Amino acid sequence: MVDFTLTDEQKALREMAHEFAAKEIRPVAWEYDRDGTWPEAVLRKAWEVGLMNAHIPEQYGGPGASYLEGALIEEELGWGCSGIGTSLAANGLATAPLGLGGGEELKKRYLGMLTEAPLFASFCLTEPDAGSDVSGMRTTAVKRGNTWVLNGSKCFITNGSYASFYTVYAKTDRDAGHRGISCFLVPRDGTVTVDKKEDKMGQRASNTATITFNETAVPAGHLIGEENKGFKLAMMTLDRTRPGVAAMATGIARAAFEFATEYSKQRVQFGVPIAMHQAIQFIIADMATKVHLSRLATWHSAVLLDQGRRNTIESSHAKRFAADAAMEVATDAVQVYGGYGFIKDYPVEKLMRDAKIMQLYEGTSQIQRLVIARETLLPRRVMEPAAATA
Ligand code: CAA
Repeated sequence: MVDFTLTDEQKALREMAHEFAAKEIRPVAWEYDRDGTWPEAVLRKAWEVGLMNAHIPEQYGGPGASYLEGALIEEELGWGCSGIGTSLAANGLATAPLGLGGGEELKKRYLGMLTEAPLFASFCLTEPDAGSDVSGMRTTAVKRGNTWVLNGSKCFITNGSYASFYTVYAKTDRDAGHRGISCFLVPRDGTVTVDKKEDKMGQRASNTATITFNETAVPAGHLIGEENKGFKLAMMTLDRTRPGVAAMATGIARAAFEFATEYSKQRVQFGVPIAMHQAIQFIIADMATKVHLSRLATWHSAVLLDQGRRNTIESSHAKRFAADAAMEVATDAVQVYGGYGFIKDYPVEKLMRDAKIMQLYEGTSQIQRLVIARETLLPRRVMEPAAATA
C-alpha cells in the first residue's frame, strides 16, 4: 500500500527537529557561516536531545531511528543550516560501513563511544587523485603480524579535525582495482595527522580536513567486512546515506522557497507586492514543485531501505534530483530578492552557496546519473546477501 502518512511518533520527531533547528540553529547559522568556525555548542546540544547518531541501534545506546525518520530529521537540520546539519549527520556516514560489516566487538565499542559522549567520527574515502573514481585510491594497508599498517592521505573529510576515529578505505591488493580495497576502523592516534582545514564557499560551519596516515597500525580485528570487499561496502554505504543528503538538500530548497515566498509578499514594485506578478508566481510555483518532488523521492528511497530492499537507483534519483533542485531553488530565491539577494545582509545568498555542495559531495550529480544509467541499461540482478538484511 502506498501511504505517505507519518505516525504520531514520526510527526513528533519531525517537530522536535524543527524546533531545534528554529531555536538553536537558525539564530546562529549566519554567524557560523561568516566566521567558518566549528559550532561546538550547537552540536553538543543536538547530541543531548538525540539529534545526532539517530541511526545507531538501541543495543549500542542509540535510538535506532529508521531511514525515513533519519530523513525527517535531516530535512529539518538542512532547513536550519546545512553546514551545521552536515556536521551532525557525518557520524551516520562514518559508521554506516561499521553497521554493515563490523564485528560485534567493534560495533559495541565504537558505536557505544558515540552514544556515550558527544564525539565525532569521519568517513575517509576520497583522495586528492581519487574522487569520483574510487578504485583509483592510493592509500595502502599492509598486513604485518597481527596488525594492518596504513599509509596515505584522504581529503575533503567532513569533521576530520574533530574525529575520534575514522572508517578508512585502503588498497590491500594494489593490482586488483576495485576488488583490492578494504575498509578499516582507525582510532585517532599520534600517527594520524590532520593537515588542512578547507576554507569553503558554502557549508562553512562544517569542518572539512585532509587526514594523513603515516605507518598507522590497527589490530587485525579492525578490518570492517571482508578483505578486498571494501569497494562494495563503500557503495552500499552510499546507497544508505544518499537519502539523508537528499533530505538535507530538500531542507535547503524549502528554506530558500520560504524566504522567497515571504519576501515576494512584502516587496512592492510597480505599485503591488511582487507576488502579484505572474513572473514571480511562476518562479514560486516551480520552487514549490521541486521541494515537493525532492521530498517524495527522498522518502521513497529511505522507505525502501526500511523495507530491507535495495535502493541504489532510487537513492541516486533522490540525491541527484534534490541536489539539483536545491541549487535551482536557491538560485531562484536570489532572483526573487533581486539585487538584495546578492547582498550578505539578506539570507538567501548563503543558501545558494550551501546548495552547491549538495551537487558535489557523496557523489556528484554526474555520478548519480552514471549510476542511474547503469542501473537502467545494465541492472545488477543479483542482490548482495548483506544488502538484503542490512
Ligand atoms: N551496492 C553493492 N555493490 C555495488 C554497488 C552498490 N550500490 N555499486 C557497484 N557495486 C559493485 C558492482 O556490482 C561491481 O561488483 P563486481 O566486483 O562483482 O563486478 C563493483 O561494485 C564495481 O562496480 P562498478 O563497475 O560500477 O564500479 P566503478 O569503478 O565503475 O565505479 C561509481 C562506480 C558509481 C562511479 C563509484 O565509484 C562511485 O559511486 N563514485 C563516487 C564516489 C563518491 O560518492 N564519493 C563521495 C565520497 S563521501 C563524501 O563526499 C562525504 C564527505 O564527507 C565529504
